[in-house]
Amino acid sequence: MSKDQYILAIETSCDETAVAIVKNERELVTNVVASQIESHKRFGGVVPEIASRHHIEQMTITLEEALEESGLGLDEIDAIAVTEGPGLVGALLVGVNAAKSLAFAKQKPLVGVHHIAGHIYANRLEKEFEFPLLALVVSGGHTELVLMREHGSFEIIGETRDDAAGEAYDKVARTLKLPYPGGPHIDRLAGEGEESIDFPRSWLEKDSYDFSFSGLKSSVINTLHNAKQKGQELKDEDVAASFQASVVDVLSTKAVRAAEEYGVKQMIVAGGVAANSGLRQALEEKFAAVDTELLIPPIHLCTDNAAMIAAAGAVAFNQGHRAGWDLNANPGLDLEMYGERKK
Ligand code: KG4
Ligand code: ZN
Repeated sequence: MSKDQYILAIETSCDETAVAIVKNERELVTNVVASQIESHKRFGGVVPEIASRHHIEQMTITLEEALEESGLGLDEIDAIAVTEGPGLVGALLVGVNAAKSLAFAKQKPLVGVHHIAGHIYANRLEKEFEFPLLALVVSGGHTELVLMREHGSFEIIGETRDDAAGEAYDKVARTLKLPYPGGPHIDRLAGEGEESIDFPRSWLEKDSYDFSFSGLKSSVINTLHNAKQKGQELKDEDVAASFQASVVDVLSTKAVRAAEEYGVKQMIVAGGVAANSGLRQALEEKFAAVDTELLIPPIHLCTDNAAMIAAAGAVAFNQGHRAGWDLNANPGLDLEMYGERKK
């Protein structure tokens, strides 16, 4: 690259309005995230209409803040990237339309980005990728093992058959009357408790890399219910520690087995649950014994942000991908198909 390249990205798929600028594919210039968590907390989860309205209120402010922080003008931006899916359709629409308006007004190229591709590429802001690699994607909506043989190519070798890991965390947290999002609260409690309850581990068929967390979630709810009926005291800390041990055991064991079977150079961890201290520790211990290098992004790049969308968008842009003015929000966008399409 002769001249520096700047990609500005917008992310509004769920409850964060985010704008970021990345330089030359891998260098983070600015990363602004306006969280709406406080507005959704009292409902115990994200309310789509409220999310869309907040995105509309925050979009221009976040954009101006990101540009101001970077010291760059829009004329210096080479392309606009935006999350086109998956996510909440009304929330995605705000970002997609903001990106289209900006790109049209400034006559800049537009690039649509898959949210999960973004979570994976967050890692590239820290360390260069070496292929083949596997990504363990653990977010609020997704749990999957993704094989990448080259940039922009995604093959799902295993995925959840029911709840995502983050969803299981949030549902168990709700049962324990913890605030939304529950993952960080369970994580904190788990650190103070004992693994005294033997919750099930869903391994599924012997060779499968799929996951299932709904049985575990039901088991936690039933255990709490039965204890209450019998008048037994269960410590929330112990429930959290035992639940977390089950999730972490399955995720980390399958990740190591997949890394060895596919002979990958790197294992990348991505998504909100990658912030989990128990998971980080278990993966670090298990991967210390194998040849695959383990990459886990810093916490601020694990949960939703636009830096990751800029990182993935920059690669797509340099591979020649362009979105048209008909770019639309796609709440069910498929990762493998996204990787295969060439525009
Ligand atoms: O990737 P993300 O920010 O949004 C989605 O794309 O879904 O992930 C959010 C999920 C939530 O379910 C949240 O509870 C979970 O990540 N999470 C955690 C932790 N921090 C966030 N789960 C477990 N331990 C954590 N420390
Ligand atoms: Zn996400």
